[in-house]
Amino acid sequence: TQSLRLGVAGLGTVGAAVVRMVARRAEALGQTSGRAIRVTAVSSRDRNRDRGLDLAGVSWFDDPVALATSGEVDCVVELIGGAEGPARETVETALASGKHVVTANKALLAKHGAALARQAEAAGVALAYEASVAGGIPVIKALREGLTGNTVSRVYGIMNGTCNYILTRMEREGLTFEACLKDAQALGYAEADPTFDVEGFDTAHKLAILTSLAFGTEIDAEGVSVEGISAIQPLDLTMAEELGYRIKLLGVAQTAAGGIEQRVHPTMVPKSSAIAQVMGVTNAVTIDADAVGELTLIGPGAGGEATASAVVSDITDIAAGTRRPTFGRPSASLSPSQRVAMQRH
Ligand code: HSE
Repeated sequence: TQSLRLGVAGLGTVGAAVVRMVARRAEALGQTSGRAIRVTAVSSRDRNRDRGLDLAGVSWFDDPVALATSGEVDCVVELIGGAEGPARETVETALASGKHVVTANKALLAKHGAALARQAEAAGVALAYEASVAGGIPVIKALREGLTGNTVSRVYGIMNGTCNYILTRMEREGLTFEACLKDAQALGYAEADPTFDVEGFDTAHKLAILTSLAFGTEIDAEGVSVEGISAIQPLDLTMAEELGYRIKLLGVAQTAAGGIEQRVHPTMVPKSSAIAQVMGVTNAVTIDADAVGELTLIGPGAGGEATASAVVSDITDIAAGTRRPTFGRPSASLSPSQRVAMQRH
């Protein structure tokens, strides 16, 4: 069999970690998937930046869209980010060129996931996105593959590492919101525009993806009611603590009378609860399902290595030829989401 040739578009924190991981794990990945996997092309804005990567023999593209049509690439790994612009163009071009796509881009999927899934299914290629939700936690696999015997009634959790990191440090060290956000950016956790993190939009994008998988509905990110953490003061955390609570930014999707309710907002959780123990950049996703009952996955929600771990798992599936409908079932059979009207908090 021929090797799977990867084109990595975007060499930020995650992209660079993916290039390193594919090289470091080459032998094991080849054994697991039955096929050699190698990076043959990369694309990034700044060619001269030193990322500490060995790119000998790897083709460089200044334009990711050109990488997406390259004859040297079978699978495009999109790690550029953003719902529009070069990320969207790269993914659409790759699918149109009959190439598999692996992406960590939750904003893109939240907005265009339904159309992209249809495009991938029509082209007979994979659109894989394990890294788009909860970083290193294999929650997409759990929902799509591990729970097919269940009816899911609720999915909720901490899905933004940056916010949980900020809330943790504000609470423990009494630091300001701004100082904690700066550190989260320096550690490579935050989005290019951190408003997406702190205003709850990133959590909403991830929640919308999980909702689609859990309930078999089309992605409906517009239907999520959203409130972030930017207004939270150290005093709020102290007051919550005195009352026996912690404040966490939660995303919640559940079946309710007449449809599915999706919401993101800071929530007081009892200090003794499991979710209150989740600190720092860690994420936690709880799934309530009829056969298994309650299931919670806890792990790193952001960061280069953890997110690369999820990207590489998708790459391995594609190399092995494992193919599943993008959102757990063919796009044509996804029902439109029934929104439950909610008041803003
Ligand atoms: N900015 C995101 C977070 C990255 O902090 O969770 C992972 O999606």
